[in-house]
Amino acid sequence: MNPQLAHLQPYPFERLKLLFAPVKPNSNYSAISLGIGEPRHATPQLVLDALSCGTGELSSYPLTAGQPALKEACAGWVERRYGVRVDPATQILPVNGTREALFAFAQTMIDPTRPNATVICPNPFYQIYEGAAILAGATPYYVPSDPSLNFNISWDTVPDRVWESTQLVYVCSPGNPTGAVMPWSDWEKLFRRSERHGFVIASDECYSEIYFRDEPPLGSLDASTRFGLRDFKNLVMFTSLSKRSNVPGMRSGFVAGDARLLKSFLLYRTYHGSAVSGMVQAASVAAWSDETHVEENRALYRRKFATVTPMLSEVLDVRLPDAAFYLWAGVPGGDDEGFARDLLARYNVTVLPGSYLARSVNGVNPGSGRIRMALVAETEECVEAAKRIVDFVKGNTG
Ligand SMILES: Cc1ncc(COP(=O)(O)O)c(C=O)c1O
Repeated sequence: MNPQLAHLQPYPFERLKLLFAPVKPNSNYSAISLGIGEPRHATPQLVLDALSCGTGELSSYPLTAGQPALKEACAGWVERRYGVRVDPATQILPVNGTREALFAFAQTMIDPTRPNATVICPNPFYQIYEGAAILAGATPYYVPSDPSLNFNISWDTVPDRVWESTQLVYVCSPGNPTGAVMPWSDWEKLFRRSERHGFVIASDECYSEIYFRDEPPLGSLDASTRFGLRDFKNLVMFTSLSKRSNVPGMRSGFVAGDARLLKSFLLYRTYHGSAVSGMVQAASVAAWSDETHVEENRALYRRKFATVTPMLSEVLDVRLPDAAFYLWAGVPGGDDEGFARDLLARYNVTVLPGSYLARSVNGVNPGSGRIRMALVAETEECVEAAKRIVDFVKGNTG
């Protein structure tokens, strides 16, 4: 068997299961989970309709390169959203959601025969980056999110020797779990480094349409154009319909950027057999071409966060994030595992310990002392969870 499999870490939810195994949740309360970041708002009717109209596609094998109509719809969205033109034929590739694409991309980009093959990951992070790096034969290097930088990544802490051996950098903006949007100054830094050291940037932007500031999150394609990168050199952006259009089960997203990298990625994907179903491609055209449902979805999140965040900030170290659908909160006493365990036992609410989403480096785990709460349920349920958390903290500290 592939020996690298032994180096994969347990997924955060497996660790949560172990933590909760001996706990008996208080049955006087209904169970509420803020644990899993799975969208739960309704799927828009226009996507369901397009899916049922697309059943004719099932009688033939789909194109890995994607239907031209889908690639044009994606390019149209990129232009409307970021004011950037991409060539649908060479600079766009549909994928089965960003998760598989983020994973497969490392398998395509990493040359494990070069010394010290390194993949830079934010810390805390989406665990797929780490597994992708390990299975590609590279070593992950974790760069911490810094609370004093609005939880952005402290790129300046990466030593030159690490940049020199880096082949791939994962960026997550808006970030999971912090919700931080990477500012222009950080993009500039990364592009300069990439020009100097030749590494590739994989920019995970799957939360880009759920935001709480007036201005939409800066995207990597936009930033690279501003920087003057020619033809998105060494940059690929990953985006998805899962959160934007509430279709996590449809498995649909796309990547856009450097045509040279996408050509190799397409070759890899052809062998890997990761073409997107034709029916899903047809429904995705409808989803990317409509913005009304996205605005409505964003408005729902905004109302929910505006209600819940002030309730929780009374007892936790938390504030409205830039974007995404998580609250990343510091807990009193700093024991994130103990907080999650006791909250379940007393109030039947599930939250995720922040330390499960990050790695300890030199004895410091940047997720420790924090919890991640996914506000994906309807507002009423999130408000009920917030009330219980307030009672729980007041009961513990008062
Ligand atoms: C940061 C991040 N990237 C990527 C994904 C994968 O999403 P999908 O494969 O549905 O596009 C997730 C899912 O939760 C995520 O949190």
